[in-house]
Amino acid sequence: MSTKKGSFIVFEGIDGSGKSTQISLLKEHIEEHSINCITTMEPSNGPIGVLLRQFLSGRIKGDEATLTALFAADRLDHLNNPQNGICKLIDDGISILSDRYVLSNYAYQSVSVPLEWIMKCNEMANETIKPDCHLFIDVSPETAIERMAKGRHQTDIYETLDRLTDVRERYLDLIHRLDDVENFVIIDGNRSPKEISDDIWAKVCHYYV
Ligand code: ADP
Ligand code: TYD
Repeated sequence: MSTKKGSFIVFEGIDGSGKSTQISLLKEHIEEHSINCITTMEPSNGPIGVLLRQFLSGRIKGDEATLTALFAADRLDHLNNPQNGICKLIDDGISILSDRYVLSNYAYQSVSVPLEWIMKCNEMANETIKPDCHLFIDVSPETAIERMAKGRHQTDIYETLDRLTDVRERYLDLIHRLDDVENFVIIDGNRSPKEISDDIWAKVCHYYV
């Protein structure tokens, strides 16, 4: 077992901003340096994450406070479950790239639930581990919707122009407000996947080499 802990990098952005594309490209870069890297996401693949996907697709209905608490509970399971929880993987020296984390809860649910309460729901996750870095991929909501339509992606409950406009503003405001306690990098997502990936690598390579 490695004695060096793995790094923990989180990708954030509105739906369709290009997170999954960039996570795959960053994983390739990292693996070129013979570093063990696992990609993951929230909602997670665990039981609460699977339930959340049914709310997101509209298959089952729930109020936003219930969803907030479920996202926070899924996060704790994602961190702490003994089989493949993020904490265990990091302790084993594996580097983690996560598609979304606490900031998604703040930006998406604060549209309809008080931010202070969402922050309380995430207190335990925040005390458990802080990401080394958050990469926020910024694109306009119009671009994101256009990209999702081209990729013939299924439409989830938050994937409307109005909601994504509100969520993007909340992300930018939160990044500005929390900048002294968290490491945020805003990435211009309006470029080719390769240009964005090269920019990201330049910003995070020091965690790996
Ligand atoms: P997310 O994970 O943030 O929802 P994806 O990586 O799945 O975003 O990208 C959404 C869609 O946009 C996909 O069809 C993807 O191929 C496309 N895409 C991703 N990055 C870019 C880019 N830089 N320029 C144009 N299209 C992109
Ligand atoms: P996801 O599959 O990540 O969408 P995309 O790849 O298009 O970004 O979908 C997750 C959805 O869940 C997305 O709309 C954001 C939402 N979400 C929250 O509202 N709160 C949260 O805490 C998390 C983790 C996700």
